[in-house]
Amino acid sequence: MPPKKLAVTIRDVADLAQVSVTTVSHVINNTRYVEPNTRERVQMAIKSLNYRPNSLARSLRRRGTATIGLLVPDNSNPFFAEVARVIEDLGFERGYSVILCNSDSSEEREARYVDVLLSKQVDGLLVISAGSHPNFISSILSSHVPLVVVDRETPELQADQVLLDNEVGGALAAHYLLDLGHQRIGIIIGPNEAAPSALRFRGFCRALQERGVAWDDSRCVMGDFHYSGGEQGARKLLDAHPDLTAIFATNDLMAMGAVNQARRRGRRVPEDLSIIGFDNISQSAAFYPPLSTVAQPIEALGRHSLNLLLARIGGDDRPPQRIVLQPSLVIRESCTTPKNES
Ligand code: RIB
Repeated sequence: MPPKKLAVTIRDVADLAQVSVTTVSHVINNTRYVEPNTRERVQMAIKSLNYRPNSLARSLRRRGTATIGLLVPDNSNPFFAEVARVIEDLGFERGYSVILCNSDSSEEREARYVDVLLSKQVDGLLVISAGSHPNFISSILSSHVPLVVVDRETPELQADQVLLDNEVGGALAAHYLLDLGHQRIGIIIGPNEAAPSALRFRGFCRALQERGVAWDDSRCVMGDFHYSGGEQGARKLLDAHPDLTAIFATNDLMAMGAVNQARRRGRRVPEDLSIIGFDNISQSAAFYPPLSTVAQPIEALGRHSLNLLLARIGGDDRPPQRIVLQPSLVIRESCTTPKNES
């Protein structure tokens, strides 16, 4: 019986590359700058010896697993998928694997996933919460695992928050429609538990008030941030207010559903009805008509969130940070001057 082949160790790699074990560790974990030619020698040695770092032993040594948990409400919504992709790409560059979980906007499922991720010893958590009072707070706080709240503010949590100024976003949509001459505007808001939607509505109403435009709450209907919610919302609005000349949907998927519903009723967009969305997901530009929308800085949202979390994992002990990013108006082809005002 030939002697059992011993597993290749980090020492074998160091000997072959003629460097220290510490240098090999820095190359593997990306934890310090290593001269390019030295780095290349180490990588060649790893490849030629087919060395596989023992991830458990590595995590014990580094007191970390180089994994990050990311919880989103629904990554079939391109907004969450695009934020997740930014975080995953940046995490990979920094030597971290990102574990993506869908809460399905259920706070119970969200809490279960938080427990699962903590049990897998993730080094940190990024959460776009399912609701406004997530019940995972206690398990997070008692775990002392770094946490960054993204997109949906969670005031009860003494944690870093990376958010959008949603009130400004709602006001941007309103002022744009008012500047085009619209006075009879409807709004489709998102689900109650999604704080950003309520803030967009507040900014929208504040803008109408500033411009002296009368508002009637019956022109506000609730959607669910899905395409179908936009169709149903537009149906309710146009049934109750056939004289509307514009609709503001507080996310792009609902705006697209509203466009479809308008068409089903023989209303051309934008000629007969202007429709503006929110998020600026990549499909908005390819949609017909290309959607005017209030853009979220999706790349910056993901980048700031990840960088803040990695800083915390690295020991940054500043007080909780609150980063608020600014929206911007993206004008395409789904809005125009109302017919009877032109
Ligand atoms: O499209 C999903 C919406 O929910 C986005 O506007 C985002 O802000 C999230 O909260």
